[in-house]
Amino acid sequence: SNDKKTTDEKLLGICQLLELNVNHYNWVGFYFKNGDKNELKLGPYVGAPTDHTIIPFGKGICGQVAVSNENFVVPDVSAQDNYIACSITVKAEIVIPIFVNGENIGQIDIDSNTPDPFTKEDEEFLEFICQEVARIL
Ligand code: SME
Repeated sequence: SNDKKTTDEKLLGICQLLELNVNHYNWVGFYFKNGDKNELKLGPYVGAPTDHTIIPFGKGICGQVAVSNENFVVPDVSAQDNYIACSITVKAEIVIPIFVNGENIGQIDIDSNTPDPFTKEDEEFLEFICQEVARIL
């Protein structure tokens, strides 16, 4: 249809595309800073439902990226302290911040059931995705 998609529909479409087409992407979602609260709120995602719909800044991989403004690649989640487990099948995680006008406003979070799957190519690809996402926010 020609109906305009909402931003959340577009973001969900990106999650679906990534999860379907990249074998080592098993949970794909967006977290966004929640107003002026020092926390992240779960946005559109694909994969197993998570209890962690709100994550305080500094907590877990996602919360750390909210304050570091840097990519965070975790090859082995079992070796990581300050990690929030969402599913026991997850072996690795990558979180890439989303910048709008230079400000870290959220992130894409990807879990993998494959150990140590993420390469520099994943990082560069997902940085590109995050730049494109920033344009539609
Ligand atoms: N593992 C994340 C929590 C979010 S779930 O992966 C969906 C973390 O440590 O921040």
